[in-house]
Amino acid sequence: MNFVPKHPRTAISGALFDAAAKVIPGGVNSTARATWSGWTPYPLFVAKGSGSQLEDVDGNVYTDYLLGLGPMILGHRPPEVTRAVVDFIETRGTVFALPTADEATLADKIVAAVPSVEQVRLCNTGTEAVLYATRLARAFTGRRKIVRFEGMYHGFSDGVYWSKHPSIPAAGPDSSPRPVAQGPGLPAGVEQNLIILPWNDPEVLRAVLKTQGHEIAAVLTEPVMCNTGCILPEPGYLEAMREATREAGALLIFDEVITGFRLALGGAQERLRVTPDLSVFAKGLGGGFPVAALGGRREIMALVSDGRVSMAGTYTANGIAVAAANATLDILARPRFYGDLDAVSDQLRHGLQAVFDAAALPARVVGIGPLMQVWFTTHAIRNYRDAERFADQGLFDLWWRGMLARGVLFHPGAYENLFVSSAHTTADIEATLDAARDVAAELSRRV
Ligand SMILES: Cc1ncc(COP(=O)(O)O)c(C=O)c1O
Repeated sequence: MNFVPKHPRTAISGALFDAAAKVIPGGVNSTARATWSGWTPYPLFVAKGSGSQLEDVDGNVYTDYLLGLGPMILGHRPPEVTRAVVDFIETRGTVFALPTADEATLADKIVAAVPSVEQVRLCNTGTEAVLYATRLARAFTGRRKIVRFEGMYHGFSDGVYWSKHPSIPAAGPDSSPRPVAQGPGLPAGVEQNLIILPWNDPEVLRAVLKTQGHEIAAVLTEPVMCNTGCILPEPGYLEAMREATREAGALLIFDEVITGFRLALGGAQERLRVTPDLSVFAKGLGGGFPVAALGGRREIMALVSDGRVSMAGTYTANGIAVAAANATLDILARPRFYGDLDAVSDQLRHGLQAVFDAAALPARVVGIGPLMQVWFTTHAIRNYRDAERFADQGLFDLWWRGMLARGVLFHPGAYENLFVSSAHTTADIEATLDAARDVAAELSRRV
């Protein structure tokens, strides 16, 4: 069987990619869409999305678990959000450089939804919101170092774009990794403000906070690791983080760009019951429109209230972003929203595991609610280095190609995720599991 999608099926994508690559570096506008991120021989070019379905320019229709890498929690073109945005543009405008009443309405909804957030400021992207979170932490504590974990991604700003997926030899010892720049151009010296640690290891974290706590402004973490596939926090780990940061006088920052408004209305912090000092949100908040937020304890946000820490931005809280987020949160706040979303997601996660087990494949489907990834391994994956050492990327590539050829779309990278939206139906999941059965049978002949 040929796992590679046949070129004639995607010929128009190929031609568009060749044309784009002449004027757009790499032919795409984000690393995650590039050939070197797995989209070989070229990324699919999109015609349109609708609900759980995405159609490429060659007319192929896919059940979409890529979902824009997370924002499309309501599926593509959710009518109520689209209508709210169009109404706002048509009747009011887009950018005013002055506040609107709608911004406070949105802030009220976020404060009511998220346990740790007493005040909140809007930004445009997760990258910006993380940048501000670390700046606020430094300003609040008067300390300069940020602890971040190998294998996580917190956006592409100079201060944190280190040790996302470093080569292990370059990154040094397992328990005290060296910071490794994402690439050239990051200013040398910035990494002296970072301490890189392995995730899911409370002892290492405690020891570092004990010995270097006086220099540590914050521990920055995703509450669920979503940028090295999906890795869940081990029981007690987030609680240990909370306790150790509090003892050291360091802040705990949850990067909920992926988990926020996805795992629960109050994000991972509600679902996993650990309360950070500052939190960052983006993707799920806007239902597909660009908006992000940074929120937390009032006494920390007070640095912004009186202008000591400046948070600026021509496009922050623009009309489109605020209308989209207000409409999205109204839908997410409906009583059955997360219960229904979890039920469909669990059908997929448990269903995939059953398919792999029946085919006797060494695969683990790891996730929580509408967020998951398949690890092809017999080992438990607790952190980035486990993933590098024990996960079979070759098998993942075959799995991805097999599913794509059968009309199921997700990112080709084993370190990305499958996302489920409220537009996915049990019929979608059943069709996906049928495709998975086929592909699993092929894979089991190869292992
Ligand atoms: C956990 C996390 N933090 C921050 C970011 C950066 O967000 P943005 O792409 O909106 O800048 C991402 C993006 O994928 C992310 O996954």
